[in-house]
Amino acid sequence: MSSLKERRAEFARYKQDVKERGKPFYPHAMFHDTIMALVVVAVIIGLTCIWYFTTSEEPGDAGLLGPRYAEKADPGTISFVPRPDWYFYFLFYLLRIFKWPESVILGTVGIPTILVLLLIALPFVDRRMERRLSRRPIAVIAAALVVASMAVLTWKGATAKENVASEALAEVPQWIEKNKLPAEAEPGAELFAGSGCLNCHVYLGGGAQALGAPDLTDAGAKNRGVEWQIEHLKCPACVNPGSPMPGFAALGDDQLRELAIFLEASKGPGGG
Ligand code: HEC
Repeated sequence: MSSLKERRAEFARYKQDVKERGKPFYPHAMFHDTIMALVVVAVIIGLTCIWYFTTSEEPGDAGLLGPRYAEKADPGTISFVPRPDWYFYFLFYLLRIFKWPESVILGTVGIPTILVLLLIALPFVDRRMERRLSRRPIAVIAAALVVASMAVLTWKGATAKENVASEALAEVPQWIEKNKLPAEAEPGAELFAGSGCLNCHVYLGGGAQALGAPDLTDAGAKNRGVEWQIEHLKCPACVNPGSPMPGFAALGDDQLRELAIFLEASKGPGGG
């Protein structure tokens, strides 16, 4: 009991003290904050130095605070599959739902603008004082729908198929059957599946559409000829001016011919 009284008396003295000799914000509080900020920065710099000077350029060299990097970055990779952290899966999957170019503007500008306008309008529309959840069915249902759709999108994003070459390669037998590809088109089909073409092109419903690249299920229906396909693969922009497709001359003449034979043989489901 007495200690409570003591504390109260102490607090009263403190209040009195502040009243009489109150410390002004400047310079006291500012000095205080500046010192603390400098301490934090010094700790970060210190940890950085320990991390840097106890590790080496060697990938995986753990040092005291963890390695600099697990593997050296490979700027030439075509098989890297970028995936976000799990809490961004719902956004990641949203981006897959909207397809270039038809609905991308709707998805990136249209819908967010409508939602923000709704949010701004909300205080003007709903002016009731009620806060109890049971009396706010619309708000509760809306919130539940948001949470549910985020959960579904997160799950879809987590289980979304990537265009990893091995997955695409597994599709090749189906391509041969559905598009009635001749045997000579098979090596080209495997190359097509393994060369990153499906990052931009759709083939029989698989792959992804990017940069406005055409569906290649019936790429051969135009009958452009194997030579034309080779020229286009070597330097797309030389054949179709302005084409954003990268050149694949590095594959070499033999592989380009195989790819071209596969493309020309692709006349659509049932062989066209
Ligand atoms: C970075 C995206 C991208 C990649 C990767 C890509 N393409 Fe393309 N491709 C395009 C775009 C964009 C077009 C449309 C412009 C054009 O015709 O060049 C196109 C067009 C084509 C066409 C149609 C040409 C025509 O006019 O009929 C063929 C065939 C083709 N690509 C084959 C391939 C093959 C085979 C691969 C893999 C070796 C591949 N593409 C990889 C973006 C890509």
